[in-house]
Amino acid sequence: MIKKIGVAILGLGVVGGGTYKLLTEHKEYYLKTQNVDITVEAVLVRNKEKALAFGVPKNVLCSNIAEVVANPNVDIVVETIGGCEAAKEYVLTALRDGKTVVTANKELICKYSHELERVAKRTGCGLYFEASCVGGVPIIRTLLDGVQANKVQEMMGIINGTTNYILSKMSQEGADYGETLKEAQRLGYAEADPTNDVEGFDALYKLSILSSLAFHTKVPYTKIFREGITKVTGIDIAYGKDLGYTLKLLAIGKNGEDGVEVRVHPTFIPETHPLASVSDSFNAVYLKGDAVGDVMLYGRGAGSFPTASAVVSDVLYASTHSEVRYSTFKNTANADGSVKFVSDFESAYYLRLSVDDEAGVLAKISGVFSKCNISLVEVSQVSKKKGQNEAEEMGRVPLVIVTHTTKESLIKNAVAKLNALKIGEVKALIRVER
Ligand code: HSE
Repeated sequence: MIKKIGVAILGLGVVGGGTYKLLTEHKEYYLKTQNVDITVEAVLVRNKEKALAFGVPKNVLCSNIAEVVANPNVDIVVETIGGCEAAKEYVLTALRDGKTVVTANKELICKYSHELERVAKRTGCGLYFEASCVGGVPIIRTLLDGVQANKVQEMMGIINGTTNYILSKMSQEGADYGETLKEAQRLGYAEADPTNDVEGFDALYKLSILSSLAFHTKVPYTKIFREGITKVTGIDIAYGKDLGYTLKLLAIGKNGEDGVEVRVHPTFIPETHPLASVSDSFNAVYLKGDAVGDVMLYGRGAGSFPTASAVVSDVLYASTHSEVRYSTFKNTANADGSVKFVSDFESAYYLRLSVDDEAGVLAKISGVFSKCNISLVEVSQVSKKKGQNEAEEMGRVPLVIVTHTTKESLIKNAVAKLNALKIGEVKALIRVER
């Protein structure tokens, strides 16, 4: 039997526009393949002229949420406005009114899914958010349906396309951060205010959602260690390359004996690691399950049609399933008190120092590491790279050190001690996953 479904789209930007096009262009295809006849019944926009020019019929245009929810033909509301204020109010209004919601909004789901889900459960509506994480890559459905037989032990992902584009270009062209960011902005890969992406907030919101689903426990974003890419230099990417490493902004989630460990930071990975070849604005997530072993998903994490693909797959899921599915964990504002979070995590580290070119300097440096109980894998006096500040480095030499796995607190302590020696300075500290 054919099921008739009415959809409302809130916002007609990159994602909303792509969703509108996909739903209208594939209407016959969904009817033929999935027995659902989906009609866009309402589109909420600020600028009606723009929407008309986009091809949206006048009779479906709305200018407020009350009009949308008052339409009895609307079964599913798609939220593609972004941000938290209006979006939260609109989603709550729709759920209270008995409409299932599909959203692409990672910040909203990360911060408020517990509130939204409470209302959805009360009214029996669905709340779906595949598009909130990693765009067109079906990571949420994979976690919910594909690997649910496993205890997911680890997840490592390149889940922000803007930073991956910037780091890939810096690596390919030997360019520095500032100039690469400008180029990324010019080409539309980075926003005019790039903070959300380059400081790692976007990846942090996504990691909070994904690790909550993967580990079946609420992982609030406040528990995630975060460091962005703004301090990364082309010099360190080049030294890392010499050591066989590629630099990525990684989102890492682990669920081990010591508890849940979640972090987002620039990370050197071996150039042979499957994630090292994920370049430009592409995204990928690498999972380890106790039964399946390694699984990797790769694709477009942003963009109009890739994100619309995720939105519409949720619309189709909601249209073809009578049972509503909620979180696989107790969805509360804070973490479950019984769950331990690892704050002093372990990692290997790359350090670049600029040190006096004198006898005894190396001995002093290795003395610090030895006192801090940190074992070293590599210590090399390296030749200067293009872009190093010649005046600042006068009489000094660059020294690159890679440590064995140690605790974050120990390395921070070692850095403070090294700087206190006054024989040079630690110029860069980058975590290494081997
Ligand atoms: N700004 C994000 C990115 C896309 O660069 O990956 C939307 O999540």
